Amino acid sequence: TCPYEAQQQNLLRVWCRQSSAECCTGLTFSNSSQLADGGKLRVTQDLHSFTVELLEPSYTGGVYWCGLLSRNDTIIKLAEGYFHSSSAAFIWSFTRWMLLPLLPVATICAHVCTTSKLFLFLF
Ligand SMILES: *[C@@H]1O[C@H](CO)[C@@H](O)[C@H](O)[C@H]1NC(C)=O
Ligand SMILES: *[C@@H]1O[C@H](CO)[C@@H](O)[C@H](O)[C@H]1NC(C)=O
Repeated sequence: TCPYEAQQQNLLRVWCRQSSAECCTGLTFSNSSQLADGGKLRVTQDLHSFTVELLEPSYTGGVYWCGLLSRNDTIIKLAEGYFHSSSAAFIWSFTRWMLLPLLPVATICAHVCTTSKLFLFLF
């Protein structure tokens, strides 16, 4: 579950796998999408949060982030979770859940990461 501020509701949503401390690789989807990544992700959009559920076990294990794509093409990270791809029980651990009180401070990924990788994936 990825909570955001009211003024961020129009921004594209981001789902990505962490690739280094400050970068990740993944995809974006709109603020009205109910499915993403060709139906592998189900998205529930609420008033000040959206929730991503994995429907297919096709994801590589690792740390995944959800966030928003800010207007300067950096990712505003909202939450992260560890996904075990090999487990039958697709365990999402949100114990490392992260909600930064000052969201602008949470802008973490440099322009070069998002533009080179994020858009390679289909919506
Ligand atoms: C999505 O963004 C549009 C404007 O682009 C806005 O009118 C709408 O309320 C937003 N929807 C959600 C669920 O945030
Ligand atoms: C992008 O915008 C955020 C605020 O939305 C700001 O904190 C960040 O410093 C900006 N990054 C760049 C590279 O301009």
